[in-house]
Amino acid sequence: MSLSESVRIRVPASTANLGPGFDTLGMALSLYAWIEMKEEDRTSFQLFGDEMKGVPEDKSNLIYQVAQMVFEEAGISVPELSISMYSEIPLTRGLGSSASAIVGALAAANALIGSPLPPSKLFDMATNLEKHPDNVGASLFGGIIAAAWDGSHADYVRIEPPADMQTLVVIPDFQLSTSKARDVLPKQLSLSDAVYNISRSSLMTAALASGRLDLIGAAMRDRIHQPYRAGLVPGMARILDEAPNRGALGVALSGAGPTLIALIERGDERIEALQTYLIETMRNEGISASCLMLEPDLKGVQVLDSLQGTSFMDMIRGEVIT
Ligand code: HSE
Repeated sequence: MSLSESVRIRVPASTANLGPGFDTLGMALSLYAWIEMKEEDRTSFQLFGDEMKGVPEDKSNLIYQVAQMVFEEAGISVPELSISMYSEIPLTRGLGSSASAIVGALAAANALIGSPLPPSKLFDMATNLEKHPDNVGASLFGGIIAAAWDGSHADYVRIEPPADMQTLVVIPDFQLSTSKARDVLPKQLSLSDAVYNISRSSLMTAALASGRLDLIGAAMRDRIHQPYRAGLVPGMARILDEAPNRGALGVALSGAGPTLIALIERGDERIEALQTYLIETMRNEGISASCLMLEPDLKGVQVLDSLQGTSFMDMIRGEVIT
């Protein structure tokens, strides 16, 4: 197996659930993290950007740990690594930052040793770590992912997002851990709530696959996680109720929150007013928030062409959108 000198990857953020598709649907978004990985004599970390504050800089680092899983799976030893990372994906906000880190580490480590593991294996490993396939599938493959996980293997279909669909995310200025947002969910559901979600999740998948943006509003509704999580995100219930009348095709909690995501039609003249409404509604609840207009990312994780002579941060300065 040939070891590359160094690899650089770019991995997108993601939104999970898309409303009704709890732990099943995901979409990659045009917000990114970058990782550079090299074999070295001694392990070291260079972590850049506000989102990296507090991330461990020893061998307990997630990127390092996940890379070692790849090497072990491939039967190769690369114990010492130099790892650089920059991320513009806010942590613990419902935009898949941990899934991006896992997928980025898997892809970088696999590329470093000549890509012996196929994407489906990386997907299974990523899902096993994250415990649900929606965020990791989107970050790995890009576009929209419908996936089912049986505890050891994830089956999936990648859907090309409708070309005229964009997203507006409103990111509240507080963190919400996935475990806290999962702890509020009920252990049992009524048959009518299960049917409500199965029908809307199926409709959502079919609508996205066939570009039927007119059906997003009817499909992007949920009864199995959002009603329970609404108490954790001030303004959420109101936004879910009102945003579809203010220019959103549909609106949902992004993953476990607290970010909310509105799907919008490109060129809709109400987008600016919708943005103001989202921020104002949060502000009225005493929450400061920022809005980003994001495109669906179509490529998923990318191994970047080696830019000889360009430093990691110079490369990122040339790429960063925000
Ligand atoms: N599907 C997951 C959830 C995504 O909603 O809890 C968050 O990681």
